[in-house]
Amino acid sequence: MKYKELIEKMTLEEKASLMSGKDFWQSKDIERLGISSMFLADGPHGIRKQAAAANHPGLNVGIPATCFPTAATVANSWNEELGEKIGEYLGEEAIAQKVNVLLGPGVNMKRNPLCGRNFEYFSEDPYLAGKMAAGYIRGIQSHGISACVKHFCANNQEERRMSIDTIVDERALREIYLTAFEIAVREGKTKAMMSSYNRLNGTYTNENMHLMQDILRGEWGYKGCVITDWGGSNDRVTGLLAGNELEMPSTAGESDQEIIKAIKSGRVKEEVLDECVDRLLDLIFTTEKAYHRPHTEFDVEKHHRVAQKVAEEAIVLLKNEDNILPLKFGKKVAVIGDFAKDARYQGAGSSLVNPTILDHTLNCFEESGIVSIGYEQGFERYGKKNEKRIEKACELAKNADVVLLYIGLDEVTEAEGLDRQSMRIPENQIELLNALYEVNQNIVAILSCGSAVEMPWIDKVKGLLHGYLGGQAGARSILRILSGDVNPSGKLAETYPIRYEDTPSFHNFPGGEASVEYRESIYIGYRYYDTANVDVLFPFGYGLSYTTFEYSDIEVNKYGVTFKLTNSGSVAGMEIAQLYVHSKSTDIFRPKKELKGFVKIFINAGETKTVTIPFDDKTFRYFNVKTNKWEIEGTEYEIMIGASSADIRLIDTIFIEGTGAPVPYDKELLPSYYLGKASNVSAEEFENLIGHTVPISQWDRTKPLGYNDTIEQCQYAKGWVARLAFHLIVFAYWFLKKIGKRSSANIIMMSIYHLPFRGIAKMTGGAVNMPMVDGILMIANGHFFKGLSHLLRERNNMIKSRKQKKL
Ligand code: BGC
Repeated sequence: MKYKELIEKMTLEEKASLMSGKDFWQSKDIERLGISSMFLADGPHGIRKQAAAANHPGLNVGIPATCFPTAATVANSWNEELGEKIGEYLGEEAIAQKVNVLLGPGVNMKRNPLCGRNFEYFSEDPYLAGKMAAGYIRGIQSHGISACVKHFCANNQEERRMSIDTIVDERALREIYLTAFEIAVREGKTKAMMSSYNRLNGTYTNENMHLMQDILRGEWGYKGCVITDWGGSNDRVTGLLAGNELEMPSTAGESDQEIIKAIKSGRVKEEVLDECVDRLLDLIFTTEKAYHRPHTEFDVEKHHRVAQKVAEEAIVLLKNEDNILPLKFGKKVAVIGDFAKDARYQGAGSSLVNPTILDHTLNCFEESGIVSIGYEQGFERYGKKNEKRIEKACELAKNADVVLLYIGLDEVTEAEGLDRQSMRIPENQIELLNALYEVNQNIVAILSCGSAVEMPWIDKVKGLLHGYLGGQAGARSILRILSGDVNPSGKLAETYPIRYEDTPSFHNFPGGEASVEYRESIYIGYRYYDTANVDVLFPFGYGLSYTTFEYSDIEVNKYGVTFKLTNSGSVAGMEIAQLYVHSKSTDIFRPKKELKGFVKIFINAGETKTVTIPFDDKTFRYFNVKTNKWEIEGTEYEIMIGASSADIRLIDTIFIEGTGAPVPYDKELLPSYYLGKASNVSAEEFENLIGHTVPISQWDRTKPLGYNDTIEQCQYAKGWVARLAFHLIVFAYWFLKKIGKRSSANIIMMSIYHLPFRGIAKMTGGAVNMPMVDGILMIANGHFFKGLSHLLRERNNMIKSRKQKKL
């Protein structure tokens, strides 16, 4: 232990006190020993530090900070170094705001396009997500503060995120859902990790010994801290045993008492606590310089320009018929669409940044050099139909050479705590497009949203530029690409299926009431579409440029692959070349292609560069569930270099020595997996894969409600008060939506509807304690008077004991 001497000076109470928050954002301090608090703040693409009311559990506005493009956007740059740059700037702002731990990046896999937080995550591919995240972490931590990689792990939906049990086979867990975290730990060297809300194969992640001890601490040798997601602690002592250092936010010391009791009773050895304290102290002491530094200002303008550069590298050109882009000099454009006036640049929830500056298309137009003949709103942002607006837009479009149509998803649709209901953009925007097409067929759509959408309207546009969520300078970056000042170089970090029904998890998302089964196993994203031969709208890794690139002269040896890249067009540009690997053996089911490396490289027109992508420990490995280890099949491998996952330009093969592990599967029992057609696997075949029966995915309505049941389950509670409360909540949600307060309606869903009963104590900063929750549960379970008197008695006890402590 690094801080043995100091720990020996601490009382049991002091040690336990460090294991939970002081308020909503800070850890506790111990003044007499010189141990200070840490400040933790969101989030992944900008600092969200609440100015006042640190105890306020809500999402009130933060101190202004640079809003960089969200992770879904930055991932399209495929540029690890750029990730590191963003990290450095984030770190600088964190220091200026005296933040020790920055709560990001988020590296959860995009299992399904509807997950409400996809805009905050990088990719459907763990290698790309891990590499980008490692860059962020290195950048953030270069300032002597800590990143906090989240949400560990298998938190791939917002629906019932605080209670759902994710059922996933060990191989998919390792290869898909853990690899990005592994890279964040081993290569990024993150000092902190946030456990997720959900259960994993039956146990809350925060308490899951296999996840936290065998894998994280054991295999990956992680020495940093694990912090719960806010209100995500279930049983504090079990969490401690699994190695959780910090429960957030504050429980007013209640859960510290549980730790003390467990140690006094012998349930937990004091050394376990000491180890956790030691790791927490390390986080405090290695980040405290940042916290104690005198106040610094960051260069707001400079950071804004960096945000712009990042967006410029991440925007993806998806269609460019007749080379409609870049806009030819002097072409008259009509600017149409609400998003041109009010940029859509980030998502809702805990990652919401209060930007220092905010660019909107209309304000940046003049400097772009593009000739505008006017602007029309065209549609109502939140979906309401408006014929008048369409008519006016068509009038304007008639006189233009090119229509720039700004469409996408509104900010309330992409939000934490809630999944999207469909993959479509609002109907009123499509109606507008159809009408515009009748009067002008030179349409360039500029799309703003942080996740994949269906595009049944794609034939009506000649050009399509996907701005994703480009942060506070995104609007200007888009204009610079439209005008040709910048050559687009982003490529998609996720697949765009033709229809939602095509997605591999379509039948198993968001799962049942109590659990979600990842029956598609390792076949997520392109791993599925490619192997099952399902056509897609835009493949993983796809993106156009204003120039063209030629690939030649592949050479493969056991260290890696070398090839030549030529810019065969007339302007300079950046190309993202991707390395995919395919095992030729059919013993173990594997996707047709897996991303194992990539480079982003700048090449002048007419120039040729030689590129090398080295192999690494992940190039040939697969996880063998029999040996419980990473193994390599001894076989021939195809080494593919592609401009996208569907556009392979060069192929070679190489034989690789294997580790000689036994084949872990019985082929006969897993036909869908061996065929790669894993979108509708039967329960029986999935059970063959995981090796046991799946738990019942419905709530047990016969059981009384308990700590881990959610407010939503009050619908079948015995107590009428609980049922009434349930209906009132549903009504409030419906009513707020009806009167257009969708954001507030969403907050009800996120913070109340899906909250487990224990959350009433865990999220109220000490206003309610667990014995009071017992009273609430009694009421919910039909013992109104007994529950009420218990609740009041416990409340009095709590107040009394706090008064006594103060004396
Ligand atoms: C989110 C985390 C976030 C935390 C603190 C939680 O609801 O899941 O991502 O860091 O709140 O705001």
